[in-house]
Amino acid sequence: MLTTSLDHSTARAAVALANLAPSVHNSQPWRWRIGDASIHLFADATRALPATDPDARDLRISCGAALHHLRVALLAAGLGSRVHRLPDPGHPEHLAAVEPVPAQPTPDDLALARAVETRRSDRRAFSTWPVPPEFLAQLVAAAAGQDGDLRILPGVHRSLVARLVERAAVEQALTPGLAQEVARWTGTARGAREGVPAANVPPQADGTVPVRRFAAAEQAPTVLGRDETDGTVVALLATSGDSRVDQLRAGEALSAVLLTATRLGLATDPISQPLEVPAARAQLKAAVLAEAGEPQILVRLGWAPISADPVPRTGRRPLADTVDRMDRPWSPDRPWSADRPG
Ligand SMILES: Cc1cc2nc3c(=O)[nH]c(=O)nc-3n(C[C@H](O)[C@H](O)[C@H](O)COP(=O)(O)O)c2cc1C
Repeated sequence: MLTTSLDHSTARAAVALANLAPSVHNSQPWRWRIGDASIHLFADATRALPATDPDARDLRISCGAALHHLRVALLAAGLGSRVHRLPDPGHPEHLAAVEPVPAQPTPDDLALARAVETRRSDRRAFSTWPVPPEFLAQLVAAAAGQDGDLRILPGVHRSLVARLVERAAVEQALTPGLAQEVARWTGTARGAREGVPAANVPPQADGTVPVRRFAAAEQAPTVLGRDETDGTVVALLATSGDSRVDQLRAGEALSAVLLTATRLGLATDPISQPLEVPAARAQLKAAVLAEAGEPQILVRLGWAPISADPVPRTGRRPLADTVDRMDRPWSPDRPWSADRPG
């Protein structure tokens, strides 16, 4: 497979779409470097959430989602991706190097790229309409295509998830620095370039899984009819291991699930809170995976009621704040840290 040269404006357009990826608290904890024949993804530790996400699992999942968004965007532009994950053992913030290769997108690939612009996190209750089993099968296949194991949870496990969200919230409320982090990153004004706007968070509603507590909640909740129940599907995304690469892959699988669901017309909402607290994560691992696999993130899926207002788009940093030009050549056999003194 030949690497192809990379037109700079195509690369920038693909990165702009990648920046629309979901991230924990909309922290966008990534940076990019664009070279003549490769695009590089870096974790940005200055945007980490040490109280909420002490293991940086959410950070790596967020970066993995951005990486998958980049691959989807490049493919729509006729470029496949040869991806080197964690390519430099001496430089662990260097999460991925992507070398473009010639490729022909299918109509499905183009539809997935269109979903990048329309996907939103919807925290409101969903309608009673069931999600068809063939749609769920497509989501499971989308995750499997990225080495992810998406488990659709039965009712008993959904109740467990609801309890674990509450438990994690109580434990996190006692964590030093958590309240400041929530205040720094959430309850932001409409149009802010980062963080979760109050307009994207409903007050505690009648959904199947409690909404995470953010600094402010001003979104109109969807109103379900008197005898209606929330038709939410709750799914757990797991991986076989729990290395940094596994967590990056989990983010890629999360992105594949969210974009596929969006293309099918479904509303989606990632939920990480119980995975951020070791005791709650251990309980999920034992109950849902019978210890075989590593839980990474939950996803709530369903149909938004037709009367529901559209979910406002959350802001993103300007492209220029996220991209640097690459200052030296890169090849898989010669990572940058090899050039560093000492
Ligand atoms: C790793 C990760 C963890 C997340 N955890 C939660 C969560 O626990 N609760 C929640 O309501 N949203 C969660 N989200 C959704 C983000 O808040 C959302 O992606 C971000 O605010 C950007 O908004 P958007 O998805 O509408 O573009 C998470 C997203 C990611 C990628």
